[in-house]
Amino acid sequence: MAKSHPLGFLSFLSIFLVLALQCHVSVSLESPTTESVYLPFLQCLINQTNSADEVSNIVYAQTNASYTSVLRAYIRNARFNRTSTPKPLIIITPLQESHVQATVVCAKSIGIQIKIRSGGHDYEGISYISDEPFIILDMFNLRKITVDIEDETAFIQVGATLGEVYYRIWEKSKVHGFPAGVCHTVGVGGHVGAGGYGSMLRKYGLTIDHILDIQIVDVNGRLLNRESMGEDLFWALRGGDRGSFGVIISYTVQLVPVPEKVTVFRVQRFLADNATDLVVQWQQVAPHIDDRLFMRLLMQPVTNKGQLTVRVSVVTLFLGGADELVSLLDKEFPLLRLTKENCTETSWIQSVLWWDNFPIGTSPEALLDRELDSADFLRRKSDYVQNPISRDGLEWIWKKLIELGKPGLVFNPYGGRMNEIPADATAFPHRAGNLFKIQYSVTWDDPSAEADKNYTTRIRRLHSYMTPFVSKNPRSAFLNYRDLDIGTNDFGKDSYEQGEVYGLKYFNDNFYRLVKIKTAVDPENFFRNEQSIPTLPKSK
Ligand SMILES: Cc1cc2nc3c(=O)[nH]c(=O)nc-3n(C[C@H](O)[C@H](O)[C@H](O)COP(=O)(O)OP(=O)(O)OC[C@H]3O[C@@H](n4cnc5c(N)ncnc54)[C@H](O)[C@@H]3O)c2cc1C
Ligand SMILES: *[C@@H]1O[C@H](CO)[C@@H](O)[C@H](O)[C@H]1NC(C)=O
Ligand SMILES: *[C@@H]1O[C@H](CO)[C@@H](O)[C@H](O)[C@H]1NC(C)=O
Ligand SMILES: *[C@@H]1O[C@H](CO)[C@@H](O)[C@H](O)[C@H]1NC(C)=O
Ligand SMILES: *[C@@H]1O[C@H](CO)[C@@H](O)[C@H](O)[C@H]1NC(C)=O
Ligand SMILES: *[C@@H]1O[C@H](CO)[C@@H](O)[C@H](O)[C@H]1NC(C)=O
Ligand SMILES: *[C@@H]1O[C@H](CO)[C@@H](O)[C@H](O)[C@H]1NC(C)=O
Repeated sequence: MAKSHPLGFLSFLSIFLVLALQCHVSVSLESPTTESVYLPFLQCLINQTNSADEVSNIVYAQTNASYTSVLRAYIRNARFNRTSTPKPLIIITPLQESHVQATVVCAKSIGIQIKIRSGGHDYEGISYISDEPFIILDMFNLRKITVDIEDETAFIQVGATLGEVYYRIWEKSKVHGFPAGVCHTVGVGGHVGAGGYGSMLRKYGLTIDHILDIQIVDVNGRLLNRESMGEDLFWALRGGDRGSFGVIISYTVQLVPVPEKVTVFRVQRFLADNATDLVVQWQQVAPHIDDRLFMRLLMQPVTNKGQLTVRVSVVTLFLGGADELVSLLDKEFPLLRLTKENCTETSWIQSVLWWDNFPIGTSPEALLDRELDSADFLRRKSDYVQNPISRDGLEWIWKKLIELGKPGLVFNPYGGRMNEIPADATAFPHRAGNLFKIQYSVTWDDPSAEADKNYTTRIRRLHSYMTPFVSKNPRSAFLNYRDLDIGTNDFGKDSYEQGEVYGLKYFNDNFYRLVKIKTAVDPENFFRNEQSIPTLPKSK
């Protein structure tokens, strides 16, 4: 039954589990429990790998004393660290590629859903939670990094963190870097394939613009690389949903040159200091200026001198020296009134630490800290802006920020290299024509359900207020800022119509090619999540 109708079997099982949970009855024999999945899975893995010794070290049943600490280690949003959060029946922690291959084969034959987790930073936690019975394929042990400075490349397994990548490059060279995200604990597995970005976005584009090769385990358990997967799938894995096509094992990437000396600064203004003028000018300058310059803008409602106001911060990386930067901004962005005293000249690795909120001078070893089992409560959303927001518009937005009191906005300038890469060169579509990307951000520490509801309502309102200022048809969104509010499929149903709703927002017109590739490589939709790429309807 499981073999001939995997999906039917699965929904049949999930009905049992839902009933069991809702009615607090004892779990029936038919519903998958950690007991009913654990032993068959173990047996299947042993059959597949031919090694009982290996397998006995990589499967955690719910009854295992380490289950909870393994599960929690890479929970990165405390909203999904509750007793009520759905838990995996078992957790598999592969130590080598063959364990991943065996897990895919066994999950398919047993008819159980897998969720793939690398660094666990998915904002909606969908790498480690699910609405139907599931197991976690937890990739944290596959974290090898090999840096080859002669070739200017690096081989990186998905369980590595961004901090480890930056550190290993720095160990070998002070004039090489990699353009990826800001937070050192973010995992390579989720981040890179979705088009991760950081403070070198305007000079070097996205992570996916530097991928030379990818290893992936497909739905048949085959280990493929660029050559054996073909250019269609290789295209899809650069910006399409990584978890819709298979399990990524590693990326081989091209490193980029960085100067020995870079410059960082942070300047803050309140509304009373004409911060609005600053934001008006920022929109004219930040997406168009020298592409070595990335000026992020943060807007927070705060109290200053007893007054509710908005604080605007300009946080910057310049791939060059302070003198050049000051004269450039004096000319192009005079309202900033930047002086050399505002700037810090430092090495690229120190700029990485500084952007990640460590003080300049911190030892790069700090980047290796995985900070297991710690998280805030958070919600994030995204938008793209294609036309400058008028002064009146900004003033209205400030009013709303102050009224809501809590969510903040981050403007990340595009332009530069992002304008040079065609929207269909990779599956990531948000290129030329976008002035900046907005991140909506709210973070809290009160674990109560009321707080959750309150902050959720506030960030949704802010997102709704912003409608007139952002992209339309589709209202685009950034896949790495996962947001289930923009649409989901009924998990397991593979509805094309539902998939199109969020799919067009994340991928614009590239969605249609992604659907074709998905249908070709995983026609039964084994690799799925709440926002995965659907397959073509069978009738079409
Ligand atoms: C504190 C914080 C800071 C962040 N900063 C940035 C930033 O500066 N720039 C930026 O671009 N983004 C940033 N992000 C977003 C981040 O890039 C994404 O959440 C990213 O997907 C996280 O990758 P992960 O491996 O840690 O997450 P996971 O939760 O493990 O995975 C995310 C998604 O990818 C899938 N996936 C993971 N591994 C694999 C694999 N091996 N094969 C197939 N599918 C896989 C998962 O199933 C899930 O759907 C940040 C997030 C957080 C929480
Ligand atoms: C494992 O292999 C044995 C012998 O080939 C077979 O009898 C058994 O059914 C297999 N078990 C699973 C779970 O595949
Ligand atoms: C828990 O699972 C791990 C991984 O399979 C294993 O090494 C360990 O022996 C198990 N612990 C117990 C108490 O069963
Ligand atoms: C920038 O430098 C000037 C002096 O040159 C100083 O008055 C101002 O406070 C500095 N701003 C910040 C944000 O450090
Ligand atoms: C704000 O702008 C006005 C008009 O341009 C100017 O007169 C005033 O000095 C500015 N205030 C500050 C704090 O810069
Ligand atoms: C989860 O909650 C426990 C307390 O119940 C806490 O000790 C742990 O740090 C939390 N972990 C995360 C990732 O939120
Ligand atoms: C959130 O809580 C604050 C403080 O209790 C309250 O003033 C506000 O109205 C609440 N907002 C929402 C959207 O629930």
